[in-house]
Order: sequence, then structure tokens, then C-alpha cells
Amino acid sequence: MCGIVGYIGNKDAYPILINGLKRLEYRGYDSAGIALIDNNKAQVYKKQGKVSELEKETATKKITGNIGIGHTRWATHGLPNDINAHPHMSMNGKFIVIHNGIIENYARLQKKLCDRGYSFTSETDTEILANTIEYIYLKGKVSAELAVRLALTKIIGAYGLVVICIDEPNQLIAARNGSPLVIGVGEKEYFIASDATPIIEHTNRIIYLNDKEIAVVTKNELSLKTITNDALIPMIQELNLDIEEIEKGGYDHFMLKEIYEQPKSINDTFRGRASQNPPEIYLGGLYNVFDKLDEAERIIIVACGTSWHAGLVGEYLIEEFARIPVEVEYASEFRYRNPIISKNDVIIAVSQSGETADTIAAVKMARELGATVIGICNVVGSSLTRETEAGVYTHAGPEIGVASTKAFSAQVTVLTMISLLLGKRRKKLSEKTYTTLIKELYKIPDKITQLLSQNETYKHVASLYKDATNCIYLGRGVLFPVALEGALKLKEISYIHAEGYPAAEMKHGPIALIDENMPVVIIATKDHSYEKVVSNIQEVKARKGIIIAVVNEGDTTIAKLADHVLEVPETLPELAPLTTIIPLQLFSYYIAVMRGCNVDQPRNLAKSVTVE
Ligand code: M6R
Repeated sequence: MCGIVGYIGNKDAYPILINGLKRLEYRGYDSAGIALIDNNKAQVYKKQGKVSELEKETATKKITGNIGIGHTRWATHGLPNDINAHPHMSMNGKFIVIHNGIIENYARLQKKLCDRGYSFTSETDTEILANTIEYIYLKGKVSAELAVRLALTKIIGAYGLVVICIDEPNQLIAARNGSPLVIGVGEKEYFIASDATPIIEHTNRIIYLNDKEIAVVTKNELSLKTITNDALIPMIQELNLDIEEIEKGGYDHFMLKEIYEQPKSINDTFRGRASQNPPEIYLGGLYNVFDKLDEAERIIIVACGTSWHAGLVGEYLIEEFARIPVEVEYASEFRYRNPIISKNDVIIAVSQSGETADTIAAVKMARELGATVIGICNVVGSSLTRETEAGVYTHAGPEIGVASTKAFSAQVTVLTMISLLLGKRRKKLSEKTYTTLIKELYKIPDKITQLLSQNETYKHVASLYKDATNCIYLGRGVLFPVALEGALKLKEISYIHAEGYPAAEMKHGPIALIDENMPVVIIATKDHSYEKVVSNIQEVKARKGIIIAVVNEGDTTIAKLADHVLEVPETLPELAPLTTIIPLQLFSYYIAVMRGCNVDQPRNLAKSVTVE
């Protein structure tokens, strides 16, 4: 939520900042802005809308300087307009600030500043922060760094921020608490950003800031300390990320590219962790918590959005294979409802970004309550990976499209491996079933490749329902979360209202919505509840609803009943979420494209929800 970028060195900062903002745009696209310093003078440009609007605005301007900051905004306080766009300058022009996060006590700080004669031009909490820093700086006659540190001790809330002081123009001051910040270390130059994507084309030497840390960066050196002034030794890590992974690579949208990457991303996720010969699952990241997992009385999965849907698949699989009770919680609810947690509980936090504020808060709370906390995460070095004692990376590669696709299938793959491993360790899973499942997992990437080649079918069905206003998704058992995920994909990128239900729940209310205009997407692959799902299809047809059924190849029973069938290759029922989600992702994608929606950057959304 909000992307921030900074540069200091000998190069022209403008293109570095603009390109950096484009890479970070998935974090928010309500407005964009930059500030560059040249000859001790600030040039600040900001514009409502996307980075391209800012580029148009600045195209004819002569912008110079080797030091600068940039911001792409997802609005929290104040409308998405030019005035509320970052960077924000303090009233006397001494400080320029970009910020990702929320200053919770901004109203109280604002009142104090007003009493001292300050006035404000924007409605943002960030402007209050800029002025708080300036007030301390001018009143206390202290250095810019000390003014920032003192101001931050007065702040309640989350921040990732970069500050320029016009009197000390040869440095950038960066600080973090709750909102991510990384620093790229080049040759006589430093890059600062919300994540590594704008940095990786310049350097792969990265420092991850921790909460309550502050870095002061000149082009020649970096000093790192806590905001309470304890010196720290910066830990430089080499990041293994290719620039191609964060580019569209010939696809029209990142989302389409990411859907098509799934055979590879699933394979990358289980490669080296699931062996066929001998059939075995190795999850090295969990070694130090195996004893806790073996003794756990309960597992609680916490997550948000798509990751929560993957968690529901995990619940089904862990209970089925390992016979451990599992609860799946929305992280936002879990953290605020005084949950009963004991040291015999294991919490699994699932997050693509590893930066979702509610998930991180839930993890911190569970740790304080003495539970063992494991992470399933896609972004290397993210907050989640540093807040958990053990974990498993999903090796899906960077996911840039705001709608999550390959992250979901990679999370389901990891949860499948965890459930198999626990089933084996707890001796609840026979050797034969364990072996069969591992062997079948190996076949999933090829089955997905086959599904992807059927995209013309999905496109055709999408063209028939692109003008729908509502859509219902149904599934049972482990396919119910797939129904939820299919509905989420459709609503978030095409703005068609869609709801997912367990198929049998339909009779308890939603069936009232069925008429000849209501498309009902039903996931009806063969498993123990297949006959029941066929009955659910009959019930929809009896009310003239339109059935789009995801079925196994050659299913003639449902083909006779349904208006459209989307065939998927047969697999074991427990692995069917990995295949059945593909037609639903592509169905949503094509509908959104046909409706002219911005698929990669849907309205009001941001990729990484770093505020509550
Ligand atoms: O990064 P996370 O997995 O923690 O993100 C959780 C949700 O914000 C995310 O899955 C969101 O629901 C996506 N827009 C879904 O496509």
C-alpha cells in the first residue's frame, strides 16, 4: 500500500525514480509524485492518477538532480487528488517527506501544531509528520536526523518513510515501523524502496530495514541505528531476482503472465521438497519446529483474501491427512477478538507479500501468547519471514498483478506438502496414499499446461457472460475454497458482483437469487460428493439458472445438464484445487479484459495491504 522510492548517487535521479515508481505502482495508483534536489533547491511534482500522468506532467520540465524521492499512493487520509499526493513539504519548506503507512495519532499532533501556528494544505497524516519534524528541527536547533528520530518517538502508527531536509541536502533519511523498506547498495550510490523490485535492475545488494530502525544515507555511506540512537551494523544480503521476472515478457497483462507461469511456479515450489524416489517430502524450513508440529493439539491458519482461501484448502487437507484439528481465521478478526491460544497451538500465517498488516499483527500476537508460528510466504526477506520462527517459501516468483493467481496455487502446493508430511509423521497416512499423492503432485504442472491450452474455450464462455451483473460460485469440500477464490477473482478485476458458497448451502438462501439471468459457476469434478453436486446442478436448472460447470474430461452426465462445461484433466480429489482454479482465473481475466477493466490494477485495490 503506497510505494516509495529514493535515490542518492551521481546519476540523474529522475529516470531512476520514474522507473522505480512504475515498478511499485501495483502498491497503489491513486496519485504519484517526485521531489528532486539540485543546488539546494527542491523541485516537487505531483499528480492525481497513475505514474504515466506524472510523466506527462513532467515531460516538458527540466528536472535535474542526483538526489530524489518518489511516491505512488493508495489513499488513506484524504481524497486521491494532486494536493494530497506525496511528497509533502513542511510549512517552512525545510522538510520533504514520502510515507507509506498510517499515523494514528495525527489528529492530536495536528492540534499541537495548529496551536503553534502551523497550517496545512493537504488532508494527509503525512503532512502532519513533515511539520512535526520541522517544528522539532527549528525549535530545538537540532540536526535533521535527530529531528526525525525525535518526531518518530511521538508517532503512533505505521511508517516506511524517506525524508529530505533542504538544509542538509546531501542525504536521505529513511525509517521504518510496520511498513516495509529496503535499501539497495550500489557503487557510490544508494537506492531506497518499499520492496526490491525498483532496485534489482541497479544492484542485488540489499539491506532490509527492521522496525524502529533509521538509516541516514549519503552517496558515499550509510549509517544505521535504532530510532533511540543505538548504532547497528547493516547486514547486506544478495538477492536472487531476475529482472525478467518482474516484466510482462510479451503478455498483455501481468495477471495473464502469472496465470501462465503456474506450471513452472508449482514445479518450483515442490522441486527439491517432494521426491518421487523414494517418495518423500522434505521441508527444511520446518526442521526446527517438527517437535512442536508433532505435538500440536491444534493448528490455526491466519491469512487474508486469497491467502485465506488457500488456508481453507490447507484446513481440509491437514485434517484429512494428519487428523489435526485446524481453524482458519481472517487475520483481521483473529487479532482483535482475544483468541484463546496456548503454547500447544501452531499458527500458520499465509501471505504472498509477507507484508499484510493484519497478518503480521496476528503473528506478533500469537507469538506473545506463546504459540509456535510458521510462515508460508512468497517474498524473500519480507516482514513475515522475519517475524516467524520457521517457514516455507512459495517459490512462485514475483507476483505483480494485484489479483493473486500463481501465489494461490503455490500456497496450496505448500499446504499440500505440509499436510502430507504431518500425515506421515503422525502415522495417519498410509505409505500407499502418501506415495500416490506425491506422484500425482508431480503430474499437476503438465495438467495445468494442458488447461492453459484451452484458453479459447474460456474466452468464448467469458464473452457470453461479460455483461452479467451477478454471479454465484459453488463448490463442496476442498473445492468450496476454490469457489470462493473464483468469485473473488471475478469481483476484484471485473467489478461483477460474485459470491462463493458451499454448493449445499445454496438451498438456505442464495437459491432465491437464481433466475434465467444468473450465471452459476459450479466446480463439479469427481469426488465423494459428486452425486450431491449433480443434484445441486439440477436444482439450479429447475429455476432456469445458467450453469457453467468445471468438470472432469468426458463427464457426460453434467454435460447434458450444464449450459457450458469447462473440462479439467482428472486428478486425485485432494489435488483438484490446483487444476480447477485455472479455468476460473482465465474466465475472470477474459471477462475483465472484455469489459475494458484495468486487470493488473483494479480500482480501489493495492497489492500489498500494509495498513489495517
Ligand atoms: O500478500 P497477502 O497474501 O497477505 O495478501 C492478502 C490479500 O490482500 C490478497 O490475497 C488479496 O485478497 C488479493 N487482491 C486477492 O487477489
